[in-house]
Amino acid sequence: MTHRERVLSGMQASGKLHLGNLVGALQNWVRLQDKYDCFYFIADWHALTTGYANPSGLKESTQDLLINYLASGLDPEKCTIFLQSKILQHAELHLLLSMITPLGWLERVPTYKEKQQELKDRDLSTYGFLGYPLLQTADIIIYRAKYVPVGVDQVPHLEISREISRRFNFLYKEVFPEPEALLTEFPKVPGIDGRKMSKSYDNAIYLSDSPEVVEQKLKTMMTDPARKRRTDKGEPERSPVFQLHKIFSTKEEQDVVAEGCRTAGIGCIECKKILTKNIFNVLEPIWKKRSELIANPKLVMEIAEKGTDKARQVAEETMHFVREAMGLG
Ligand code: TRP
Repeated sequence: MTHRERVLSGMQASGKLHLGNLVGALQNWVRLQDKYDCFYFIADWHALTTGYANPSGLKESTQDLLINYLASGLDPEKCTIFLQSKILQHAELHLLLSMITPLGWLERVPTYKEKQQELKDRDLSTYGFLGYPLLQTADIIIYRAKYVPVGVDQVPHLEISREISRRFNFLYKEVFPEPEALLTEFPKVPGIDGRKMSKSYDNAIYLSDSPEVVEQKLKTMMTDPARKRRTDKGEPERSPVFQLHKIFSTKEEQDVVAEGCRTAGIGCIECKKILTKNIFNVLEPIWKKRSELIANPKLVMEIAEKGTDKARQVAEETMHFVREAMGLG
């Protein structure tokens, strides 16, 4: 068997997945599993860094995220799927790395202050929240991963992971490769109000939405405001519906709706019908898989346990080197 380079990525277990997460991350992860030795995990500890005051939904979000990973096409025969909190070595490495991480490095990570601003209603002046990027570093380097597929928002976290790997290698021994972000270029996915699709804007189409809900959301989705009446001409580039067509519809369909919009040849309802059909084509296999998995929680648990056991072996192997290097061997 040829040696494949290792890829690792994860998502925080907090809330439901939407179409933006699907086309922006998961579909890419699915493509990568054929080419790389992929490790994908659920960052349930990370969810506590901001959600510590109310952990009641965590178990359910974790289960649902796992189901979404599988329903979207992550294949346990091809990749390793696991839960962060079941691999205590991540915590051990996080602790040991904390010994060598200057506070200033963590305070300087831009997401630290940004997130505190964004989530003003929560007290994020905690040790755990400051250490978020350090825990993420441990997640990555404990698998000695080469590539980390993430969105641009995660670049500062990858940067600090590289710095900490370098520092460890410099102080002790060459144990860690420097992980690289694998930036995923993907079109911006607008939500139904035209802003970026996001849980916090309440504008998202979720993988767990029923067909009726998805249809209803698309029906109420914002279009070009110039088209108040059916006879008004519009500009597709101003319509978030058209942005979704660019992701989900064929080139021919895009041409037809763009032309129809500019000439008032078709109405918004008709244009949305085409989009709805195409989004249904993507979601239908996911819905089917989701309901199968929801009906079989034992299978889901077995898959996670198997992946977790495999990941733990790799993590433990790395920790041997780390303990040795830090005088704990
Ligand atoms: N911070 C990531 C996010 O919010 C989640 C995450 C935690 C992660 N650990 C990771 C991503 C390790 C990649 C690698 O999306």
